[in-house]
Amino acid sequence: MTLLQVNDLKVKFRTGDGIVNAVNGVSFSVNEGETLAIVGESGSGKSQTAFAAMGLLARNGAAEGEALYKGKNLLTMRPSELNKIRSREIAMIFQDPMTSLNPYMRISDQMAEVLTLHEGMSKKEAVAEAARMLDAVRIPDAKARVTMYPHEFSGGMRQRIMIAMALLCRPKLLIADEPTTALDVTVQAQIMDLFGDIRRDFGTGVILITHDLGVVAGFCDRTLVMYGGQVMEQATTSDLFERPTHPYTKGLLKAVPRFDREEEVLQTIAGEPPDMSRLPAGCPFSPRCSIVKERCWTDRPVLQKEIGHCRACHADLQEVA
Ligand SMILES: Nc1ncnc2c1ncn2[C@@H]1O[C@H](COP(=O)(O)OP(=O)(O)OP(=O)(O)O)[C@@H](O)[C@H]1O
Ligand SMILES: [Mg+2]
Repeated sequence: MTLLQVNDLKVKFRTGDGIVNAVNGVSFSVNEGETLAIVGESGSGKSQTAFAAMGLLARNGAAEGEALYKGKNLLTMRPSELNKIRSREIAMIFQDPMTSLNPYMRISDQMAEVLTLHEGMSKKEAVAEAARMLDAVRIPDAKARVTMYPHEFSGGMRQRIMIAMALLCRPKLLIADEPTTALDVTVQAQIMDLFGDIRRDFGTGVILITHDLGVVAGFCDRTLVMYGGQVMEQATTSDLFERPTHPYTKGLLKAVPRFDREEEVLQTIAGEPPDMSRLPAGCPFSPRCSIVKERCWTDRPVLQKEIGHCRACHADLQEVA
């Protein structure tokens, strides 16, 4: 079943410097129990896509289009209804756990609040459930440690506490925005394992936002590649890694360390990401594309389905290969 269906989402910000076109017509869907990765360089519109769907845009921002959760448009929903869905059905994990944890409150109190408020549990039941959830995210000695303060945990543990908090109400959809960027590789792997367990045990759909393609391999079912606020390519993750059909995806993949290949040299994509307040008329990737042609400068490619991939590119498949 489709959990979230995003159709032609656009996000604009009003600034002193003019309009920033952060998201320019993005469409995708996430099914129950499915994991979708949204990847792309910094500034490509990944976070704003998620924030818009969750009604969390900054004040100078506005969203257009549709974000249908179980068929209802989150963008036009009454705030009270949206709040209900946000606290019970869709959970979001942010990059920095300290922005979401209150440093002056015991973990038990922060976690219990969610349950006494939304699930009508008694404080005692709620703290016991919080400890169970900490145990599920593999915090050692959870029962004793649940009464500690955030600063008494390591960064990796705080990230896991955030995940435990997000899972307290057993969300149907989990949106994780760079959840492991600040962590070392071992903890990263543990957290990805944890997401895998959650998906399996609760049937949770997961949207994983990251600029690191290495993280999505082997974990995400499908991958959406964004650039300049648009979807450049979308395919199953294995297909995308085996047969990228967009020059930008190819460039991203060349910058990912792979242990199954001989070539050691990692290449970065030359040039700078576009200025979102002065996007070119055609393909936003044109200035950095090695196979750019005349029409790419003037004619913005639309996302089209070709051999299982969806891609927005004027080049023939052979030219990209
Ligand atoms: N409040 C705002 N006002 C103006 N521009 C904004 C605002 N918030 C975000 N932007 C711009 O929107 C664009 C997309 O930002 P977004 O946060 O979605 O990037 P991202 O893909 O998540 O990047 P990163 O990997 O760095 O998190 C960027 O150019 C950013 O500067
Ligand atoms: Mg972001």
